[in-house]
Amino acid sequence: MLLVTTQLAQLVMPIEETDTQVILTHPSDPSTSVTILKYGATVISWKQQGTERLWVSEGAKLDGSKPVRGGVPLVFPVFGKQKKESHPTFKLPQHGFARNSTWEFLGQTKELPLSVQFGLGPEQVDPELYKLWGEGKYDFTLILNIVLEADKLTTTIEVENTGSHTFEFNWLFHTYFRIPDITDTLVNNLVDQKCFDQLLAEEYVEKSPVVSFHEEFDRIYKNIPTDKTFQIIEFGKVLVNVERDNLKDTVVWNPWIKKSEGMADFLPKSGYLNMLCIEPGNVSDFVSLTNGEKWQGSQILSIGGEIKIQSNIY
Ligand code: BG6
Repeated sequence: MLLVTTQLAQLVMPIEETDTQVILTHPSDPSTSVTILKYGATVISWKQQGTERLWVSEGAKLDGSKPVRGGVPLVFPVFGKQKKESHPTFKLPQHGFARNSTWEFLGQTKELPLSVQFGLGPEQVDPELYKLWGEGKYDFTLILNIVLEADKLTTTIEVENTGSHTFEFNWLFHTYFRIPDITDTLVNNLVDQKCFDQLLAEEYVEKSPVVSFHEEFDRIYKNIPTDKTFQIIEFGKVLVNVERDNLKDTVVWNPWIKKSEGMADFLPKSGYLNMLCIEPGNVSDFVSLTNGEKWQGSQILSIGGEIKIQSNIY
């Protein structure tokens, strides 16, 4: 009897659901897990072999009162604040409504690799917020698929137009990585890519073979071939690889000292030293979907491996 109890205690429950969150634990490694808050379907923790890979502010609100400052907030249907008054996303708040709506947990879809889904439709969005997108005439379904493997976390979004009006949207996985020290961090394989520098409001071609950080950084890299992998390199070692499927743009962001001081939910104030956002998405233009059409894109994060240099050969 005692033996049975001990064996039971050692069994890993792969999926645990509470009122507010879902925790996936890797079936053969209990030190590898992912926690998803139903609010925003925000991944708020990815532990790989006991090491936390994502940064979440100590001041982040996890009670649904505000988008989470950290983890992987989801940006839809607009990235940033729309400036064009005639666009149906003009009235929406910065980054849209997906990150501040409570998604429905749709359950497990696969045992191996461990996969779950979350869904969002107009009925889950605050009606006041929903009305701000095209006067509330759009009908849509978002399905977020999350797959946890031993050294990999894949998030895939599927957007479907389930209504009769064509709509346009941006999508972005706003991923905050936890890093030991931003001043010792490099990101490679952005060289030769066109970027829009949000701080200079200027477009140019990135000429650094590896990007380093010593001040506020906010750039939208555009139309990057999806065979390019970005690697976060710390003290000469690959911390994480960021790969994409059907997501052509990537935002790289660190608020540095002044900007993080202005964000009440950004704590500790020295936190900018330990975070870096690399955000795969489709934000340099809009994806357009007509009735019944579907679109999907994925962010694939994996740990370690060797430094891989990918530059264009002229
Ligand atoms: C980034 C943008 O994606 O998100 C930045 O490039 C912005 O310009 C940042 O400041 C954070 O946005 P928010 O709305 O979460 O404060």
